[in-house]
Amino acid sequence: METKIIDGLALSKQVYVDLKNRIRKLKNIGITPGLAVILVGESSASQIYVRNKVKACEKIGIISKQENYQENIVESELLNHIYRLNKDTSINGILVQLPLPKHIDTHKVIEAIDHNKDVDGFNVINAGLLMTGNPLFCPCTPYGIMQILKNENINIRGSEAVIVGASNIVGKPIAMLMLQAGATVTICNSKTKDLKSHTKRADILIVAVGKPGMINGSMIKPGAVLIDVGINRGLDNKICGDIDLPSVKDIAGYITPVPGGVGPMTIAMLLTNTVESAERSIKDQ
Ligand code: GUN
Repeated sequence: METKIIDGLALSKQVYVDLKNRIRKLKNIGITPGLAVILVGESSASQIYVRNKVKACEKIGIISKQENYQENIVESELLNHIYRLNKDTSINGILVQLPLPKHIDTHKVIEAIDHNKDVDGFNVINAGLLMTGNPLFCPCTPYGIMQILKNENINIRGSEAVIVGASNIVGKPIAMLMLQAGATVTICNSKTKDLKSHTKRADILIVAVGKPGMINGSMIKPGAVLIDVGINRGLDNKICGDIDLPSVKDIAGYITPVPGGVGPMTIAMLLTNTVESAERSIKDQ
């Protein structure tokens, strides 16, 4: 079977065409969507992620406001910056790049963000709304994965979906979305026994762990749809995902490559959430 390599970059470009139209309409009535991106510390990976998000905003006409703070910022000061951005009417979305330094309580920081500006969809209100089937903001990576599956006409209803990785950012929210779309969902974690017995059953396998080569050809069902969320640096120093692409090729039905699969869609969904937040701000006036 020939494996289809899903082009997430091409799909993200389609999303941007639609977003540019929506932004034009907003600008016609005097509103420019604004996204604040907070980066704490000097992590080079986080710096790259933030730079990509800010660049994408600039490309389509969203105002991005990047705020960088030193690794040793005290928690109360960081919270005060968020309270200020909550009140700033030019800002429709607030994103705090994770992970945060260990001395800062991440939960407290995420909860400080006004849930109407929580474009990452991470705070408790948004997680609860998603779980109960009424999302205000879907977390960007799960949202992007659902768009990819929709665009490829992948049948979700009645399928076996197996998710490897149970984070609040990807594993748990994508499990909720797949469940609501009618899949039978299994969430595996680092303690799961005999991982292969689960992954082999998957019609749709979503892997978000951060370990290169975690999934190989012997662990998948022929024809499976493989969604690779991992972003790792391999031994050859190149960016790679969690799935060993050469060994699954010609067994899987579909795979999202790394780079160029889920990553570009994550950013496209962040900007979608920001534009949606700006559109909602008119209705609330
Ligand atoms: N760190 C890794 N992924 C994400 C994400 O989607 N949002 C934020 N804010 N931080 C992250």
